[in-house]
Amino acid sequence: MKELSSLSLEEAKVNHQRLAEELRAHDERYYLEDEPTISDAEYDELRRQILELEKRFPELVQPDSPTQTVGATPTKGFGKVQHRVAMLSLDNAFNSKELQEFEIRVRRFLGLTGDEEVAFFAEPKIDGLSASLRYEKGAFIQGATRGDGQVGEDITENLKGVVDLPLKLNANGQDVPDVFEVRGEVYMSDRDFLALNEAQAEIGAKTFANPRNAAAGSLRQLDSSITASRNLRFFAYAWGEVSEVPGKTQSDVLKQFKNWGFSVNDLSRVCSTMADAIGAFKEIEELRASLDYDIDGVVFKVNRLDWQERLGFVSRSPRWAIAHKFPAEKATTVIQDIEIQVGRTGALTPVARLQPVTVGGVVVSNATLHNEEEIERKDIRIGDTVRIQRAGDVIPQVIEVVLDKRPSSSTPFDFPTVCPVCGSHAVKELNAATGKEDVVRRCTGGLICRAQAVERLKHFVSRNALDIDGLGAKQIEAFYEDGLVTQPADIFTLEKRDSAPGNLTRLKNREGFGEKAVSNLFQAIDDRRNIDLDRFIYALGIRHIGQGNARLLARNYLTFDALREALTRTGEDAGKAYLELLGIDGIGEAVADAVREFFNEEKNQEMLDALLDEVSILEFEAPQNDSPIAGKTVVFTGSLELMTRAEMKAKAEGLGAKVSGSISAKTDYLVAGAKAGSKLKKAEGLGVKVLSEQEWVDLIGS
Ligand code: IVH
Repeated sequence: MKELSSLSLEEAKVNHQRLAEELRAHDERYYLEDEPTISDAEYDELRRQILELEKRFPELVQPDSPTQTVGATPTKGFGKVQHRVAMLSLDNAFNSKELQEFEIRVRRFLGLTGDEEVAFFAEPKIDGLSASLRYEKGAFIQGATRGDGQVGEDITENLKGVVDLPLKLNANGQDVPDVFEVRGEVYMSDRDFLALNEAQAEIGAKTFANPRNAAAGSLRQLDSSITASRNLRFFAYAWGEVSEVPGKTQSDVLKQFKNWGFSVNDLSRVCSTMADAIGAFKEIEELRASLDYDIDGVVFKVNRLDWQERLGFVSRSPRWAIAHKFPAEKATTVIQDIEIQVGRTGALTPVARLQPVTVGGVVVSNATLHNEEEIERKDIRIGDTVRIQRAGDVIPQVIEVVLDKRPSSSTPFDFPTVCPVCGSHAVKELNAATGKEDVVRRCTGGLICRAQAVERLKHFVSRNALDIDGLGAKQIEAFYEDGLVTQPADIFTLEKRDSAPGNLTRLKNREGFGEKAVSNLFQAIDDRRNIDLDRFIYALGIRHIGQGNARLLARNYLTFDALREALTRTGEDAGKAYLELLGIDGIGEAVADAVREFFNEEKNQEMLDALLDEVSILEFEAPQNDSPIAGKTVVFTGSLELMTRAEMKAKAEGLGAKVSGSISAKTDYLVAGAKAGSKLKKAEGLGVKVLSEQEWVDLIGS
């Protein structure tokens, strides 16, 4: 291209048009097809050229120029939004009995007597995607997806195109709160879903399996005008950070939502007893088929907000709400084969390969058979006709065999005693706590077993663990196969090795990997070099360490070094460290054993050494560490009268304390209720500070 300063307007016009066309084509490939053909740097260079041209010849700037259109900037997907109040999920009840048990738990926690009324608010459980909408002084300023509950994606622009989302709260002459985050579900109506699929099919574009997927695909469009064309809708049912709550009950707040201009599901209602709530479930279930949107159950919330507040949360869900899903849908089909899958912890899981069958609108071709015992108990054989069921998103299950249809030649299934992947022995371990044999048969190959190694890596990068964009199960499989990634640390050295001189097998030459995709991947990996402690512990994939237990460990040890140091002590100190681990409220023997075993394994220590050369683990931040009990260890004993034990514990943990079940020299406080016994004696012996219940409540300011 000629020097800019010597270009005539005519020449500039030609260049501008060429650049604009090129950029538009790249935008389309990047935003719409997810298949970019140039690197970020090359794209930026084109943009720089067009901007310079426009600076020199401002008359070239047109409203549709790629420098002017919304969403034309090459963002790496969506920005992140830290939720100020976590977005949680719900516990499930599977039948009326479990709903009644929910009520009992609520009453017990709050210390209510049987004659005190506990009203529940019943709402249909909308099968869509949850979103959080932030309003400041009544104006919609930001919207986010749930993400991992702590951090979501910024989808503000897309949400602006949702049909029943008010951009301004309808104040009706009253004050609106300074800050209000409305939460609810984005969904697509059945009618819009069918119309969209028809239109997609017509132009040969991809169709969606169900309205939820269609809503998800539409909401995650990088071009917000596409989202706006999809007719997405929104039901409001919850809230996040708020400067004031407009009401005393769930139903009050939903009324206010309606006044502000939101859609609130009109099948929702107050139920004054649990029996009434169970009735509401049946009513809503009967209406299900006639609704123009998908629901997958009913959510019950304690109606009084002061009670909701006291009940609080346990790990990822509120104690004051529960979801009752509709019963599973059923079908009959034939088992064509039984395959054995080997999981991250070596568990051998049998999976039935089915003759494909439609269950509740979804084609099903696999069902889990859980374990060896289940196959024996139900006498499931290859060739059998079986009844299967599917509930929600979970993998379908076999209910029973239709014995009348069993082929005469069939034989019982022979469960393997060696790992089908690596050939190591597969054994049923003895459970230390119960002394009984485990139901699960496990491969003893550890990391020499390809399946275990790959599954651990997949877990390491999964959504609730490292959550690396562009590095999913598929890529891990392929990278492992080629020897590029065989342990977690390899993920972080991928870029260095890829760009090493003389390397002929660069990622960008691989099928399905454009240059841009590769640079995005390296960026996404780099973004994860500082990892929260609880996420990291979870990512290690230690048996029994789910997100809840990972958080417990993080809260107690505060740094990874401290956890690792404690668990790699030897001799007598190892015993002490083990007891300390067991002393954590919520950590039982099976969990403690699994953690100990993990750190005792030399291969794991080597894996950690290599990984810690590449990443930094952040110190755990105790919630509300300005509280007087943050970081303190407390034990409750005796009978408590001011609050139930569960509420005491929840409150203490919420203020950053560790609640332990046993007294040791590390205990900071023993809170002794009436009739305190041996723990009180022990505390006095060790010089641990003993508080009465009232003194404790005064200390925490509750
Ligand atoms: S309340 C803290 N209410 O179900 C309470 N959730 O399994 C948060 N959902 O993530 C949720 N309808 O996406 C609530 N009426 C309703 C709902 C509802 C659908 C979804 C929501 C949530 C998931 C939990």
